[in-house]
Amino acid sequence: MVARHLVNVNQLHLGNSPETDLLLDLYTGLSAPHDDSSLQHAMRDEGLIELSNDSVSRDDIRLRYRRNPFEHIQKVIFEFTTYCNFNCEHCYNAQVPRQTESDPRLLMDAANSLLRMGIRRFDFVGGEVSRYGDGWLDVVEHIRSHGDDIVISLCTNGWWLEQENFKAAGQTFVSTQAYLEELKRRGVSHIVFSLDGQGELHDASRHHAGLYQKVLRGLDQVKKSGLAPRVSLLIRPEWSDAEFEAFRAEPASVIYDFDPLTPPRDRALRLSLDSTNALSNFIDVGNGAGDDTIQFPILEERSHALSCRNFYRLSPTLTIKANGELASCRLSQAGEGYGNLNQQTLVEVLNHFDEAFIYQLHANHQLEKYLPLVDRSLFGSAFTHLCSLRAIVTMLARRMHEEFISFEDVSAIERINREVAILTGHLSKRDLSTEI
Ligand SMILES: C[S@@+](CC[C@H](N)C(=O)[O-])C[C@H]1O[C@@H](n2cnc3c(N)ncnc32)[C@H](O)[C@@H]1O
Ligand code: SF4
Repeated sequence: MVARHLVNVNQLHLGNSPETDLLLDLYTGLSAPHDDSSLQHAMRDEGLIELSNDSVSRDDIRLRYRRNPFEHIQKVIFEFTTYCNFNCEHCYNAQVPRQTESDPRLLMDAANSLLRMGIRRFDFVGGEVSRYGDGWLDVVEHIRSHGDDIVISLCTNGWWLEQENFKAAGQTFVSTQAYLEELKRRGVSHIVFSLDGQGELHDASRHHAGLYQKVLRGLDQVKKSGLAPRVSLLIRPEWSDAEFEAFRAEPASVIYDFDPLTPPRDRALRLSLDSTNALSNFIDVGNGAGDDTIQFPILEERSHALSCRNFYRLSPTLTIKANGELASCRLSQAGEGYGNLNQQTLVEVLNHFDEAFIYQLHANHQLEKYLPLVDRSLFGSAFTHLCSLRAIVTMLARRMHEEFISFEDVSAIERINREVAILTGHLSKRDLSTEI
């Protein structure tokens, strides 16, 4: 927290307040003398400082400071809801249990701590938050009250474009224009539309004819409403460079008002360099599980380690899932297991983040140990994206750990493989009941 204030926000001034002075002492000197002051009591209650005992060496403290899992976080994603009105061809969320955050105040409290840590970007992602995220705009309004420079974005499939008299997150709107005005009034700054390919490719992936063109018109309408239009692009490994370039250049023309003669390469580059857009390679989890367009045999023949740095040094995103779990990864339930906002405050979870099983699993490169336990008759031996295999092994290992399952307990491991395969989309519930 102190590092971020010093480097990014420049909000820390020596002598500014006794609280920031003590934090600065701790940051530079590792520890500070304990006293019974109301200041130290209040900061301990808030989880900002801890009382250390004699068994903790200065080297241990130094190591903990150096291994700060949060120093690279640039933004926080609120999933808010897993409910959705679409069922897209590729969706990684397709099989996760449906739920919406029932207590938006939990997110407002978390946002207060995150703002103090210097976070200035919050993305509402879903599911489809615009449709099912009852109360999400209250959280937006709360965050906006902390400053005009904060980026607050809505990621959406665009179902509300060119609609009349529709219901979005519990409110009725007479038109798309009225909806955009309300989003702006409550404090949203960016609207991010998902695109899965150009033209009919997108429409087929989303099962909605004409949606691609609607989104292109929507980008313009959003801009005219005074909000920033952006895109979240799904990139397929089979595309040529020219296809990938054209896919980025078309929405870029609308978003950034390019002269029509600007070369597609320049337009595409502009879009890629703006981090308020999102570009994601297709990951074969959820509805895309078992996609065999291009599969790499990556169970053994991998050129990369299975462990992922993002599980122990989050970069650039921390996600708060609809079930209240703090997560490092958004694929299925793979990134969960650090703590839940329904049971602890954000600061309490963050203070013990490095003790979580999945943190240790990845930081200590233990995933290879569990790899031979992956049931290939369920998951296959080839994946399009290494993260699919990472997610599977992580969920398998965590369940074994939580249920105290030994490596010799073949039937329990078989059961857990099936449970994970349902969540990742490799085994549908129907397949399971037919087999039983
Ligand atoms: C889960 S969606 C939720 C937001 C909203 N419903 C939408 O589609 O824009 C968030 C983003 O993840 C992307 N996404 C979903 N499944 C994916 C996958 N298997 N691989 C890569 N990106 C994926 C979507 O295309 C979308 O841009
Ligand atoms: S990608 Fe978005 S719109 Fe499509 S099913 Fe998933 S959550 Fe819904």
